[in-house]
Amino acid sequence: MGISGGMADLTTLRDSLGALKDRERVAERLLAASARHSFDPDRELDWDQPWDPDLWYWPPELVSLYDTPLWYRMSREQRIALSRHEAAALASLGIWFELILMQLLVRHIYDKPATSAHVRYALTEIADECRHSMMFARVIKQGGTPAYPPAGPHHQLARVFKTFSTTPGSFVATLLGEEVLDWMQRLTFPDERVQPLIRGVTRIHVVEEARHVRYAREELRRQMVTAPRWERELTRLTSGEFARIFSVAFVNPQVYTDVGLDRREAVAQARASAHRREVMREGARRLTDFLDDIGVLRGPARHMWRRSGLLA
Ligand SMILES: [Fe+2]
Ligand SMILES: [Fe+2]
Repeated sequence: MGISGGMADLTTLRDSLGALKDRERVAERLLAASARHSFDPDRELDWDQPWDPDLWYWPPELVSLYDTPLWYRMSREQRIALSRHEAAALASLGIWFELILMQLLVRHIYDKPATSAHVRYALTEIADECRHSMMFARVIKQGGTPAYPPAGPHHQLARVFKTFSTTPGSFVATLLGEEVLDWMQRLTFPDERVQPLIRGVTRIHVVEEARHVRYAREELRRQMVTAPRWERELTRLTSGEFARIFSVAFVNPQVYTDVGLDRREAVAQARASAHRREVMREGARRLTDFLDDIGVLRGPARHMWRRSGLLA
């Protein structure tokens, strides 16, 4: 190795030390924000309030069949019932994502110094996700619908993923799980047409989730610079596969059967809906802009994201 090789090594070392200092600074700020704004949903929300039969459980424009021919054949009661089941399906999806994320975070910090701010923040986030999953489970139960677990093959695929994924892949999955739902929840909690309990649940989730998105983004940005080339390539390809699974698994089609609709017809109409496509793209836009910016959406990955319907 000549002098230039040695210099390159020094530059890499300096960059990675800089990245680590930066990592600690970000974590310190997130810890301070967590200390200021954390909620205990069991105490914070009024769980005894009755549901109002005239209010929605999810903003109608965000319900999968909105503006389809089927939607116009449904009564208002049936539309509200669909919003109730879809809210439960999304809360179930949230629990699934959070269980995966908790395991990814535990794996992420397993080899890192426990006293670092980066690890202490990860533990704080795991605690947040524990409370969220309990909150989502409670609101599903309160709504009187079934829970909607992911389809068997997705459930098993995620088992492999959460056990073996590398760090950048883990953080891409995290952001996909968090950002689209977060976008919907930001429209839900201020919406006066929606049940107060759902608004409370989504408000708590939005406040605490903003920190999680920040943490995952900062880490992924670092990883896409420091990870070896094969890992960056792998991250791009797996991200495209996540996008595909995410868009298929987003609303569990059992909800259609449960409100008395023909499942196949409903799935076909939701898939054909221009409004729905726009909602999903808009929901993913902040994320896809970011992923594009840090170089995840290159090569075949870009095509896969387009096919998933999440990228224009
Ligand atoms: Fe969460
Ligand atoms: Fe989260």
